[in-house]
Amino acid sequence: MKIVESLKWRYATKKFDPNKKLTPIQVDGILQVLNLTPTSYGLQPLKFLRIVNPEIREELVSASWNQRQVTDASDLIVICIENRFTEEDVDQFINRTASKRNEDAKTPRYDSFKKMLMKIVDWSKDDYQNWARKQAYIALGNLMTACAVEQIDACPMEGFDAKKYDEILGLDKLDLSSVLVCPIGFRSEDDRNSQLAKIRKEHHEIVIEIN
Ligand SMILES: Cc1cc2nc3c(=O)[nH]c(=O)nc-3n(C[C@H](O)[C@H](O)[C@H](O)COP(=O)(O)O)c2cc1C
Repeated sequence: MKIVESLKWRYATKKFDPNKKLTPIQVDGILQVLNLTPTSYGLQPLKFLRIVNPEIREELVSASWNQRQVTDASDLIVICIENRFTEEDVDQFINRTASKRNEDAKTPRYDSFKKMLMKIVDWSKDDYQNWARKQAYIALGNLMTACAVEQIDACPMEGFDAKKYDEILGLDKLDLSSVLVCPIGFRSEDDRNSQLAKIRKEHHEIVIEIN
């Protein structure tokens, strides 16, 4: 399969070429990929930040274990969760769904759907945020795969101080928390990591077939 070749081509890029930039079409496509990420019930408790300002990106380096990908990559994506989930969010989701599907939101079917989704509103803050974080990782996976298919380099990153990111980016005011960072762009010709052999378990170590 072609996608296997693409996934063998990709690697966590350590050194980006700062002169190589994504085209506006690539940027738009990547942002669409993020929005198209499937989430539990389709609730999308996420926001995707694209950090354009170079001074802010420079400030983020020290909050990223000094990983320079944050400034050198063409684009910097920060995947955030929304800090809370409210009845208003449920209503908005239900109204959007009904409207897009030319249905009436005031039906017993939608009422029971709302009742089910209201259980998430009642979860503890920790339970809600843990669930939302899982959705963030789905977006990261989707982003990595899409980048590979489009021959765009990327580096998934958990190696950053989320509290410092939240401060620098003013996320408190937006009621968001940063979860994952992903610089995307094009590898530098002298990134040694591009030459390293890919390390993965053998097929029999990772796949179990139950007949
Ligand atoms: C969730 C996640 C967090 C990661 N965080 C970092 C990071 O902070 N810095 C980094 O250089 N690589 C990071 N990596 C890259 C992994 O080290 C890399 O994906 C792994 O070693 C497999 O190598 P490959 O992606 O080149 O195939 C992260 C990967 C994932 C999936």
